[in-house]
Amino acid sequence: MRKPKVLFAASEVYPFAKTGGLADVGYSLPKALANAFDVAVVMPLYHTVDRQKYAIEGPTDSFDVMLGSERRTVSLYESRYEERTYLFVYEPQLCDRDYLYGPPGEGYDDNAERFGLFSYAVTELARAMQSDIVHLNDWQTALAALIIADDETLKARTVYTIHNLAYQGDFPKKALSALGIDKRHFTLEGIEYYDRVNLMKAGIGYADAVTTVSPTYAEEILTHRFGCGLEGYLEKHRTRLSGIANGIDTEHFSPQTDKSLLRPYKTPRGKLSNKKRYLEDAGLEDAGLPLFIFIGRFTWQKGIDMLLEALPQMAALPCNIAILGEGEPRYHPRFEAVAEAHPNLHLFFGYDEALAHRMYAAADFLLMPSLFEPCGLNQMIAAHYGAVPIVHAVGGLADTVAPITRMQETPTACGITFDEATPEALLAAFETALELYRDAKAWSRAATHNMHADVSWGQSASAYAALYRKISGSAVK
Ligand code: GLC
Repeated sequence: MRKPKVLFAASEVYPFAKTGGLADVGYSLPKALANAFDVAVVMPLYHTVDRQKYAIEGPTDSFDVMLGSERRTVSLYESRYEERTYLFVYEPQLCDRDYLYGPPGEGYDDNAERFGLFSYAVTELARAMQSDIVHLNDWQTALAALIIADDETLKARTVYTIHNLAYQGDFPKKALSALGIDKRHFTLEGIEYYDRVNLMKAGIGYADAVTTVSPTYAEEILTHRFGCGLEGYLEKHRTRLSGIANGIDTEHFSPQTDKSLLRPYKTPRGKLSNKKRYLEDAGLEDAGLPLFIFIGRFTWQKGIDMLLEALPQMAALPCNIAILGEGEPRYHPRFEAVAEAHPNLHLFFGYDEALAHRMYAAADFLLMPSLFEPCGLNQMIAAHYGAVPIVHAVGGLADTVAPITRMQETPTACGITFDEATPEALLAAFETALELYRDAKAWSRAATHNMHADVSWGQSASAYAALYRKISGSAVK
């Protein structure tokens, strides 16, 4: 029997282009589904994508799409990478930019057209490939749900996954005609939002199924606190909404085989040589002290303000802290000011995948004080590498990190959790971590538990597969 065809569309996919966790999911979820489905992944061929390195060939085809009254030609490129099919669409306005979406903290003015065009291209590919399922991700591809729902000649069913409700693809009203969307969709039930066009609503309102990346976040976004203004709209579509937690690719993130590490390892003990080496490279001293790491984008969401407030007091305690990331420039000097006064704080501004792996291997604790977190992946990676996460218990962090006191009862990774998003609560959690570390056996029990916790895609990929089957009805069995 033929496998059902899935077209997985995302605006970023690891390793070709990445600004956040969406790219990791774009790599690892299709991989986890490949046994049961015939999956192709499609993304824009940004000019920053390394065509040579990934043997991207083409153009293998080209086709036209209508963007409002304008005809645009889209070229198709392809690569077989790690035995999977990746499709890339190229069109100059979409692809020839320095950044994917805009400079840090900003979006390009014509993002509605750029990603509207991508959504039309995805739709045409689904038609040509006779896809059974089109899996759309975040606002950049959301419009395809509306286009497909509106086109009776298209039989594909759509799944729309919200990776982050805070980024909605909100544009001035004129985007409607620029994108060639019928005025009848410009309503409260449709994609109108305070007299503007909201592309996220196209995904929520028109897809056959809507998911978000953890069960807790699926509940949270129905509330005023986390709903980013769309809680009412989501409530209306609640019966089609579910939460499926992300997993991580445990082949790519495996302390046992990781080529970036000085010495791969199977138990928390094996971390020590990696820790010593990392400390040396970072110019930090004393492997006897606990090492706390933070890895991530410097944005408001990640709790950077809270972290910065607590950081001087944390760094004054007996520990080492290492931070890897970049983001809103306003945060950089504030980190530097703390590091100047505290030589046990090491900063690395930028992103370096291999360095991140070495830090997970070296770390005793991971700091993740996000204000909200749809899922979060770093806490799972850290756990898998035998570190203990310190997390604000929201969204996916609450689903994937159980309080350490419940370690015996749960197969989930465990860590130190706190409920209030305040510097005081973070500091208290930090002190709990120091206490845990002083009891070497207790820390090692937690780290061992975490290395064995299931953070893979296994169960969640099955949940997506069941959802694909459910919405396909008789079309896919
Ligand atoms: C976004 C969310 C993050 C999630 C990731 C992948 O980056 O902020 O919580 O893990 O998408 O779904």
